[in-house]
Amino acid sequence: MLVAPSILSADFGNLAKDVKAICNAGCDLVHVDVMDGHFVPNLTIGPVVVEAVANVATKPLDIHLMVEDNNFFVDLFAPLKPEYISFHIESERHANRLANKIKSLGIKPAIVLNPHTSISSLEYIIEDLDMVLLMSVNPGFGGQKFISAVAEKASRLKELILRKNPECLIEVDGGVSNKNIDILQSAGVDIVVAGSYVYKHPNGVKEAIESLK
Ligand code: DX5
Ligand code: ZN
Repeated sequence: MLVAPSILSADFGNLAKDVKAICNAGCDLVHVDVMDGHFVPNLTIGPVVVEAVANVATKPLDIHLMVEDNNFFVDLFAPLKPEYISFHIESERHANRLANKIKSLGIKPAIVLNPHTSISSLEYIIEDLDMVLLMSVNPGFGGQKFISAVAEKASRLKELILRKNPECLIEVDGGVSNKNIDILQSAGVDIVVAGSYVYKHPNGVKEAIESLK
């Protein structure tokens, strides 16, 4: 299982230190939550702060856009050369065009589905994606309760992936902890995002990441 800690739960007064800590503790990706205050009722960070994160991170960035104007934000973040940029299908009219634009910039495109969005929405785009991100909370905030229906959804997504694009990875984001990691692994999930579990773990980020792996 690959682990992508979300820096949303880091101490933003000591962001460089907290980014270095997860990289040194063996995380696989650094998950960056970008919120615009419109698509979700919260506002986070823009390119100045994400560039500072990229400068200290020794692991690739996994940028999760929770915004209305995906195109605008892709242009802002592409120069930072993240590994992935994921955008919500609920906010994108031209998902095929955007996925191919991200790919043409040398970045792996991923689509995110909110908890209520069916995997059938991916039927005609899965072949253009490197990853699908399934939300297991309603996007906008860290520290929310895991929505367990995501496990069955991941199993069904895995069937679609095996049929149409076996290279595509499945990532799950929201409320992930040592309590639900087994069920996610059984469902075929490849990468988990964990924010509060990693940064608020009583024994530190290293033990948290190792326990998920
Ligand atoms: C929620 C974000 C998540 C969040 C995860 O909108 O996409 O990445 O930070 O935090 P936890 O693991 O605390 O649910
Ligand atoms: Zn996220």
